[in-house]
Amino acid sequence: MKQTNSLVLTVLLALITLYGCSASIIDEPARKITLFNSEWKFILGDNPRASIESFDDASWQVLNLPHDWSIEADFSVDNPATPGGGALPGGIGWYRKTFTPPAPASRRSQVTYIEFDGIYWNSTVWINGQLLGERPNGYVSFRYDLTPHLKYGQKNTIAVRVDNSKQPNSRWYSGSGIYRNVRLVTVDPLHIAHWGTYVTTENVSTQSAEVNLRVTLENNSEETRNAELISVIKDAQGKVKVRINSKVTVLKEEKIETVQVMTLEKPQLWSNTRPYMYTITTQVVENGRVVDEYDTPLGVRFFEFDRDKGFSLNGEPMKIKGVCQHHDLGCLGTAINVHALERQLQILKEMGCNSIRTAHNPPAPELLDLCDRMGFIVQNEAFDMWHKRKSPEDYSRFFAEWHERDLTDFILRDRNHPSILMWSIGNEVLEQWVHMDVDTIDLQQANILFNFAKNMNQNEHSDDLHANALLTIKLADMVKKLDPSRPITAGNQEPRPYNNLFKSGALDIYGFNYSDDLWDKLPEMYPGKKFIITESTSSLMSRGYYEMPSDKVFIRPETWDAPYEKEGSQCSAYDNSRTPWGTTHERTWQLVKKHDFLSGMYVWTGFDYLGEPTPYWWPSRSSYFGIIDLAGFPKDVYYMYQSEWTDKPTLHVFPHWNWTVGQTVDIWAYYNQADEVELFLNDKSLGTRSKTGDEVKVWWRVPYEAGTLKAISRKGGKEVLVREIKTAGTPVSLRLTADRQTISADGTGLSFITVEAVDANGYPVPVADNLINFSITGNGFIAGTDNGDATDHLSLKKPVRKLFNGKALVVVQSNGKKGDIELTATTEGLKAGIIKLKANNK
Ligand code: GAL
Repeated sequence: MKQTNSLVLTVLLALITLYGCSASIIDEPARKITLFNSEWKFILGDNPRASIESFDDASWQVLNLPHDWSIEADFSVDNPATPGGGALPGGIGWYRKTFTPPAPASRRSQVTYIEFDGIYWNSTVWINGQLLGERPNGYVSFRYDLTPHLKYGQKNTIAVRVDNSKQPNSRWYSGSGIYRNVRLVTVDPLHIAHWGTYVTTENVSTQSAEVNLRVTLENNSEETRNAELISVIKDAQGKVKVRINSKVTVLKEEKIETVQVMTLEKPQLWSNTRPYMYTITTQVVENGRVVDEYDTPLGVRFFEFDRDKGFSLNGEPMKIKGVCQHHDLGCLGTAINVHALERQLQILKEMGCNSIRTAHNPPAPELLDLCDRMGFIVQNEAFDMWHKRKSPEDYSRFFAEWHERDLTDFILRDRNHPSILMWSIGNEVLEQWVHMDVDTIDLQQANILFNFAKNMNQNEHSDDLHANALLTIKLADMVKKLDPSRPITAGNQEPRPYNNLFKSGALDIYGFNYSDDLWDKLPEMYPGKKFIITESTSSLMSRGYYEMPSDKVFIRPETWDAPYEKEGSQCSAYDNSRTPWGTTHERTWQLVKKHDFLSGMYVWTGFDYLGEPTPYWWPSRSSYFGIIDLAGFPKDVYYMYQSEWTDKPTLHVFPHWNWTVGQTVDIWAYYNQADEVELFLNDKSLGTRSKTGDEVKVWWRVPYEAGTLKAISRKGGKEVLVREIKTAGTPVSLRLTADRQTISADGTGLSFITVEAVDANGYPVPVADNLINFSITGNGFIAGTDNGDATDHLSLKKPVRKLFNGKALVVVQSNGKKGDIELTATTEGLKAGIIKLKANNK
């Protein structure tokens, strides 16, 4: 008897742990969320019959989502996306998946939704031949109710058509297909609605915080339902800190909102250095039975944008040190992988970056989860265009019909993330411009301009101007209604006061893209306004490639609309190469650092991305803007940021030391935590240099001779760091270095492996360009290869890659099974490189 009792207790406890519910009678999990990614059928090409349930897809490819079909191909100038869109193919693709839902086990029938985090783009979805809906936008998340169409205990078929055929439709690489996660969600007909909670905090201090939770309950059943809504705030260890109960009655087919106000004593604040997260778990309890359970992330923080002092978080003044990021993951394309995203953020965090601008579209939800967890501030951006188009086939085609729905869903999905501190309603939308001959006005005369704009406003008759300001107001109002807790900005490259977005009065923070010449005049031009540099820099660099003299800044192209070509199509990695609208990294940061009224800046861009190969066109196919190259290797300027944005002792000396005898070479050093750097060539001092004023580096001009360059940074005469750069000999073998030796065996785990050719002393050869072949055995596969060379045309999925300026990358992915993995890299004439990895449970 005693034994039976303890068995019952164990089973009960197990159920409670499994379902995370309070002690009530449990038939099944209150809310069942299943990843719906595996074993889809796919075909590239169109077939209108593929939506039909009985359609024979036996010959189609079997694959797991997330999936980007464009990334599989070789790059070609003939692809209609053009190099601006990444020179990869678009087209039409179909996905199908069959599944057999079990009959609902509960007393009441269930409701089942299919959730898509994002499909690029123009998706149409059917179940069992019945149309569920269409969604043109490629970045928003959406769901469909499958319930009326489901056949329980029988085979059901979901069919998805994705149409990315009309090109170009993007100014960067978009990817194609179901490139984000898909889930099935099964709930009781009485459940918390889609994105149905909204949490805000008020009166926040380290003593207490008022937590306001709004919960929308939806009743899809045929009867009135009475329930109790129980919410608990749990700390990071899962300990319950606050609990609240509310009684609710929801009439059939109704939605109602309940507000729960809680006080959290002595809250741990969320910040970028200590991103403390609570969770609010809300249960819907009916007659002692938990019918739904829903988690809402909670980060408690307060922040301010001040017109004079800039940004502060939890009362502490700080600069927003941000980067703009597009959504591709280099050689993995746009197929979302949380490990790849996490790696990008880790690399940025090490650099001292504290903020991400999701240029120029709603991101994957995983990015926001990571930003919450890792302490990145987010500027979450909705659109790159409104009605006025930037590419012939872009979203402007759909804006009129879809913007309300898309903007609403974007805010509803994301507004609980503590990392998001501002919304951007658009990037450089063409609606900002006034089509008048104003170019003759002296840009430097800020006050005159301001008065001019005011007068112009009074006399303005253009409907177009009016419509554009009104549209700004409309979009901002929509955002404010859904989330009054965050300011609204937009990225503007028209800095002058007759910009329609400024004139609308609807922006809380004036966002400027470029126009650095005007930054110091902003408080005069826009009295009382708050400012952020939504986009800056657009400097151009290829990792490991240097053009001298390093103190000459190369502006490429000469004017924004001029074509530009240069043999080899690379850009100098000294911070001495930029676009005409851009600035060097050094100057941008110096200006932002100097002006307190600038809340911060977002460098264009953190990582290189596919597409937009400014200043070139074909044969280039990816960007040169990144602080970090497409493969994830930092360019030298990464260390300027690290030295300025972190306290981590930094001494970065470059370039490499493999030049031609007789050549003069400029040596730069970025450093911090020291007052001087002394440089030696073959033990002979070349002098000691110190940064003065707002300088961010020291440098030497040195006649080249083979040997060893050595730099020593010192503080108060004491050595802080020593760096040596040697002349490398000829390569003799390949060296593989993995960022992770053990990866998770769930099919998503990744290891990023750096490949270098080393000389007889094991020193990496910075100019090596050997062609490497990769092979793999065991429980992993090669997910992609890259080298950061914007002119490499080989598919990024091929297990072959040339070293570019001495480096290449190979990404190994788990195949879903536990066990060993062995990767081999070979090239003619050199000793092979071998690395062993493990795929294990996390
Ligand atoms: C900006 C634009 C970005 C990117 C950048 C390149 O004007 O907002 O999307 O095109 O220029 O410099």
